[in-house]
Amino acid sequence: MGVTRTQEKLETAAADEGKAELQIRPFADETEFLKWRDRLAEIYQAAYQNLREYAYTDRDRILKYLDWLYYGDPRHFFVAWSEDGEPVGFISAHTGWHDEQLGQVGNVHEMVVDPAYRGRGVGRRLFETAVRAMEKENPRVILWVGEGNTRARAMYERHGFREIGRQGKWIKMLRESSVD
Ligand SMILES: CC(C)(COP(=O)(O)OP(=O)(O)OC[C@H]1O[C@@H](n2cnc3c(N)ncnc32)[C@H](O)[C@@H]1OP(=O)(O)O)[C@@H](O)C(=O)NCCC(=O)NCCS
Repeated sequence: MGVTRTQEKLETAAADEGKAELQIRPFADETEFLKWRDRLAEIYQAAYQNLREYAYTDRDRILKYLDWLYYGDPRHFFVAWSEDGEPVGFISAHTGWHDEQLGQVGNVHEMVVDPAYRGRGVGRRLFETAVRAMEKENPRVILWVGEGNTRARAMYERHGFREIGRQGKWIKMLRESSVD
């Protein structure tokens, strides 16, 4: 059994190596965002298929939400691009966000990855890119996550975020840059 597992891991690693590393970058401009806006809505809906209680389900509402995310801070709306040059995931963060409890923070609002591209490290790379960018401008970074979203929560905890509050089914998490 151990051998089979090891073999499986090697095969998975080989398969992953065969895939080109996806590019992560913000939209070049508003025109590019508008070009892909509908596709982003599809990815969002697919990503939240099994977590619907934490997501908008109405298409118009999703499009408005995407606008709010993008126009709130276009520089920090990072997109993962497939080998074919299509978005397969994104993360949106707003710098200089005013939090009632903490004052100025970076706020990581949303992250989704197309289910077809999951488990390849796309989410982790998007997250690290956004947090690094936030920390350049804000010593504190927060996010809100659904309490039943165990996969995302585990990832945030591994990246040093800790729970600092709750509101209904939502958990507020914080990471503070270490002061050296
Ligand atoms: C959360 C999400 C963005 C992660 O995307 P992803 O590209 O699959 O993430 P990664 O491949 O980078 O994996 C992230 C972590 O989850 C782990 N993971 C991968 N596949 C997993 C699975 N099937 N079950 C549990 N954990 C898994 C990985 O080990 C990884 O941990 P690591 O960073 O320590 O290596 C994606 O699952 C998603 O779109 N979820 C729905 C929307 C959502 O919940 N967004 C967050 C809202 S706060």
